[in-house]
Amino acid sequence: MGRRILMLPGDHIGGEIVAEADKVLRAVDRCFGLGLDLDYGLIGGAALDVEGVPLPDSTLASARQSDAILLGAVGGPQWDGVARELRPERGLLKIRSELGLFGNLRPALLYPQLAGASSLKPEIVAGLDLLIVRELTGGIYFGEPRGVRTLENGEREGFNTDVYRESEIQRIAHLAFRLARQRDRRLCSVDKANVLEVTALWREVLESIAPSYPDVELTHLYVDNAAMQLVMAPKQFDVIVTGNLFGDILSDAAAMLTGSIGMLPSASLNEAGFGLYEPCHGSAPDISGQGRANPLATILSVAMMMRYTLAEPAVAIAIEAAVGQVLDAGLRTADICAQGQTAITTEAMGDAVVAALSQHSSTR
Ligand code: NAD
Ligand code: IPM
Ligand code: MN
Repeated sequence: MGRRILMLPGDHIGGEIVAEADKVLRAVDRCFGLGLDLDYGLIGGAALDVEGVPLPDSTLASARQSDAILLGAVGGPQWDGVARELRPERGLLKIRSELGLFGNLRPALLYPQLAGASSLKPEIVAGLDLLIVRELTGGIYFGEPRGVRTLENGEREGFNTDVYRESEIQRIAHLAFRLARQRDRRLCSVDKANVLEVTALWREVLESIAPSYPDVELTHLYVDNAAMQLVMAPKQFDVIVTGNLFGDILSDAAAMLTGSIGMLPSASLNEAGFGLYEPCHGSAPDISGQGRANPLATILSVAMMMRYTLAEPAVAIAIEAAVGQVLDAGLRTADICAQGQTAITTEAMGDAVVAALSQHSSTR
């Protein structure tokens, strides 16, 4: 039986980077005999333009029938003026929510070849390997009530609600503890428990679960301090677990430690282990259509798909090794170029990974 992968390129550089991931999927399919079937669907602004909504029912139905999803990115300035519920980003939020993809894994791993590309000194980031576990279907992103209302004096007021149920905190905490167990067994929970009740409950729930994982060390940091520690001494972290909004912000910061946001992949998992895989970055309208986008975060998301949903760890390792080999050869898109290096295009980077993969599998 074939395994169905739903490809959702989305907007702007989404199409460019997913095209390269497509090549990699087809290459590993050939080399490892995976029996993959790639289907394409619409999401984001691309869906809004054609179907009038950012997540058409047909896309959601295909998603439910697929074994895994690969997504590029959504959004762009041309949709800034549309009603909030029709924004491209709402399509992404809806698919995450509809499929129950509560566990967002964002690994920030520094490829040693890129130590010079980081905005921090090489000695601060050398050997960096941390995992941010972001809660993805709750918190202030989804809390009700939300909106903009007009007060009696005519002034408008915007409001959102940060809310987490104990059960939501428990399931992301268990996921993070389990992942910490497979790594260095250190879990840092990030909250704002000194100010926000919702995160005081978060901390309490984390503490209540810790005794079930006596082999994992649990620590807590307030998010402001965590942001500071992340850029001061990032190697102190193994696994970070946090809510939706803090996780969004901290993962972009962590991305830069690895050289570029174009290097950070992600997996968004539901309770059954089904996953949507996507780079952490956005649709980069400022560089779209120029062949300048780094496809490696998307290609590394394919590796995560192989590891977490398709149970093909050897394929994941092969893709990650191919990326390492390409970096060893000095190939760089513009975002990870050091001084004096010449940038290659998105397409050339994808081709180089495929070439390295073919070499790997022929010497297997
Ligand atoms: P962005 O991540 O798209 O871009 C931020 C900066 O990083 C830009 O300078 C961009 O050129 C650069 N960059 C991003 N990805 C890159 C890559 N692969 N290679 C090289 N450089 C890269 O964030 P933004 O500009 O704040 O947002 C643009 C649009 O993307 C918005 O509509 C936003 O809502 C959306 N967005 C979508 C997602 C997603 O689909 N998961 C994530 C973040 C932002
Ligand atoms: C991300 C993005 C999304 C988020 C947006 C586009 C809804 O920034 O995947 O990090 O905030 O979750
Ligand atoms: Mn983000």
